[in-house]
Amino acid sequence: MGTLAAPPGGAPAGVQVIEPARRLRGQLDVPGDKSISHRALMLALLASGESRIHGAGDGADVRSTAGIVRAFGASAERVDDDGRTVGYRVVSPGVDGIREPSGVLDCGNSGTSLRLFAGILAGLPMTAVLDGDASLRRRPVARIIEPLRAMGATLRALDGDTLPPVTVTGHDRLRPIDWTSPVPSAQVKSAILFAGLRATGMTRVRESVATRDHSERMLRARGVSVRSLPDGEGGAVIEIEGGTTVQAMEERIPGDPSAAAFWLVAAAIHPDAELVIRNVGVNPTRRAVIDLLTRMGARIEERPAAGGATGGADRGAPRGADVGEPVADLIVRTSELGAIDVSPAEVAAAIDEIPILCLAASQARGRSTIRGAGELRHKESDRLTGIIAGLSALGAKLEVDGDDIVVHGPTPLLGAPADSLDDHRLAMTFAVAGLVASGRTTVGRPSSAAISYPGFFTDLERIRA
Ligand code: S3P
Repeated sequence: MGTLAAPPGGAPAGVQVIEPARRLRGQLDVPGDKSISHRALMLALLASGESRIHGAGDGADVRSTAGIVRAFGASAERVDDDGRTVGYRVVSPGVDGIREPSGVLDCGNSGTSLRLFAGILAGLPMTAVLDGDASLRRRPVARIIEPLRAMGATLRALDGDTLPPVTVTGHDRLRPIDWTSPVPSAQVKSAILFAGLRATGMTRVRESVATRDHSERMLRARGVSVRSLPDGEGGAVIEIEGGTTVQAMEERIPGDPSAAAFWLVAAAIHPDAELVIRNVGVNPTRRAVIDLLTRMGARIEERPAAGGATGGADRGAPRGADVGEPVADLIVRTSELGAIDVSPAEVAAAIDEIPILCLAASQARGRSTIRGAGELRHKESDRLTGIIAGLSALGAKLEVDGDDIVVHGPTPLLGAPADSLDDHRLAMTFAVAGLVASGRTTVGRPSSAAISYPGFFTDLERIRA
């Protein structure tokens, strides 16, 4: 393996060298789910008293959220860190005791922090500015500004209110709204639900494609009345009753399926592989990647996580910690993959896993199409461009056609330089490609992996049998 500092072997600094792997074997524990970790910290800020969070992801994004929780005047002490995940003990004065931050709230690379905190701020009688790094400053915010303004908050952003930084002046009595988001987005839905906590009446969010439902589950577990009504066509109406208090609680966070996806694909496309990934969250709104890979022919076996099917008695979850997030151990073996047609609704359900699915498709027999993937242009990088450039450099045959990605497989991968564009999911995708390539792969700007998975390259080296 190469190193991040200038290594003696001659690889330039700022790249990670990945040599092909002869075999892949081993057991992995992935970081705690990033989406759930953000929400657990934010809801702990809104609840008065002590909240305990076990098994949170320890990537830079979750740390950004913890930093903002502190800037609002709560303590968020790191406890029981096992090197992969981290625990937090949050003590908060509760929503009515939150103090106005004295400086800009730095969301770093994290779109979830920026959009969800905008929803929280909309319901607080104060002014604060949410900002982040160069990547975050390119990501769209009109999608949250419009509904939060309709609820009565005042929001301003750059470039005609489209780009961060975002300045929010909130009110503790917002108007309830009935909102249909033009983009299927759990971040938009969650921002509205968090603002809806402070609305005088029932707020509704209508989504044409049901997106991840962690906010709904976690609010319910904390005593808030939230209803999800499926519309029978894959979408849902979510209703929240304003004015309820968020209760402090103790919670254990399952492993992140978006992190597990890298190992599922690594083993499925490698000629000699068997990997076990423990305690992975398999919430129906997050498991699309497992189902899509299975449809392609991946041999993925799901076993109840040792100790039970939900939120982790096996991981030492304390009483009251089960918030109904299903968890499983996943066993994945060398597979023969066939091409797949992924619909726009499936893209929305597997939005963070599209880069690694493109790698899987490059090793599958036939022509795969991933339809309606335009939203990938607005992630941590322009992922449509980044996937095509990186995987093409490695020898894959794929192209963008409008908002669709077309992948022709199987194509042998050669090993080559591939630039992550400083995007964690691209860095990890190209590194996994390097395991099955015939030559040496160098991943450019690999440290971005630490945004969601700080131990990724260590795990990758450990599973080489
Ligand atoms: C997230 C929702 C998704 C996803 C992001 C995390 C969340 O974004 O891409 O990584 O935690 O709600 P959108 O909902 O905006 O697509």
